[in-house]
Amino acid sequence: MLYRSLGRTGLQVSEIGYGCASWWGKPTFSEATAVGLVHAAIDLGVTFLDTGASYSAGEAEPRLGRALKGRDVSRLVVATKAGTFHAGGGRIGRNFSPAAVAASAERSLRNLGLDVLPLLQLHGPAVSELTDELLAALGDLKARGLVRALGVNSFDPAVIEHVVDLPQFDAVMVDYNVLRPEREPLIARAAAAGKGVLAGMALAMGHTGLKVAKIRGPQDLWYAARGLVRHREEVRRGARFGFLHRQPDMTGSQAALAYVLASPHVSCAVIGTTRPAHLYENAAASGMALPPALMARIRKAQAG
Ligand SMILES: NC(=O)c1ccc[n+]([C@@H]2O[C@H](COP(=O)([O-])OP(=O)(O)OC[C@H]3O[C@@H](n4cnc5c(N)ncnc54)[C@H](OP(=O)(O)O)[C@@H]3O)[C@@H](O)[C@H]2O)c1
Repeated sequence: MLYRSLGRTGLQVSEIGYGCASWWGKPTFSEATAVGLVHAAIDLGVTFLDTGASYSAGEAEPRLGRALKGRDVSRLVVATKAGTFHAGGGRIGRNFSPAAVAASAERSLRNLGLDVLPLLQLHGPAVSELTDELLAALGDLKARGLVRALGVNSFDPAVIEHVVDLPQFDAVMVDYNVLRPEREPLIARAAAAGKGVLAGMALAMGHTGLKVAKIRGPQDLWYAARGLVRHREEVRRGARFGFLHRQPDMTGSQAALAYVLASPHVSCAVIGTTRPAHLYENAAASGMALPPALMARIRKAQAG
C-alpha cells in the first residue's frame, strides 16, 4: 500500500480508503463479515476509513466503533461526517446549526470509541449553511482537541469552489471517478489551495461495467435499485466503460482506481465493498500505473 499526504494536515493516508457506509452498515449485513472487512482492510495497510453519522440509517458509525475496539488506531485516519442524521423511516434529516454539528461530533466520538476525530467532514452543506457561527463552532471543536482536521463532503461543485477559499477547512471529498472528468479543474484548484482531496465514489458506485445487471446477492439488488432510482446518470455514463473490464493486467475496478490515483491531486480513493475479494482487488490497485493507451481510451469514452 502506498501513502499520500492529506493536504497540509500533516496526516498520511493510504491511497485506497475503505468506505464504511451503505450495505456494509446495515444490520441485515452480517456483523462478523462487516467487522472482518475492516480488519482485513487495516491488515492490507488501509489507514483511511470513512463513515458518517447518517450512514446506513445511523448504524454504520457504531458498527465501525465496534470493529475498531481493541485495535491500534494510532495510524488510522478515521473520517466521519456531521450535518445529516437518520430521521427515521429511511429519511435523512439535515441540521448544520453550530449546536447540532458540535453534538454530532461528540456523539461520533462515543460511537467510534475515539478520543479525537482525525477528520470531521460536513456532509453536503449548502453554501448558505456555512455560516460564520458554524465555522467558529468547528474551530472550537479543534481548539478543544476533539477534532484534528476539518473537511466538507459535497458533490456540488459550487460548494467545493466556496470551501476551497475557506481556511478553516483542510480537506474536501468530491465525486471523482472515470465518469466525472469535469471535476479535474476543481480538484487541481483545491490541491493548489492546500486542501487534501478525497475521491468518494471512486468506483462510481460500481457502475462502470453495468453492475446493475449483475445480481449475486441481496446487496447487489440494493445497489442496483439505488443506481436506477437515484444515480441514473452514473448508470447511463457507466455503460460506455465496459472496456475497462477487458484489460490484460488489471481488473476493471483496478483500472478505474488507477485512473483516479493517476491524479497527483487526489490523496485517497475511497471505496465501499461488502466482499473480501473486492477489498483485496481494490487494495492491490495501489501503485498500479494506468497504461497510456488505456488512459487515451478512457478520455475518448469520457468525450462521449
Ligand atoms: N455514494 C455516495 O453517495 C457517497 C457520498 C459521500 C461519500 N461517499 C463515500 O465514498 C465511499 C465509496 O462510495 P461508493 O459510492 O463507491 O461506494 P458504495 O456506495 O459503498 O458502493 C460501492 C459499489 O462498488 C462495488 N465494488 C467495490 N469494489 C468492487 C470491485 N473490486 N469490483 C466490483 N464491484 C466493486 C460494491 O459492490 P460489492 O459490495 O459487491 O463490492 C458497491 O456496489 C462510501 O463508502 C462513502 O464512504 C459516498
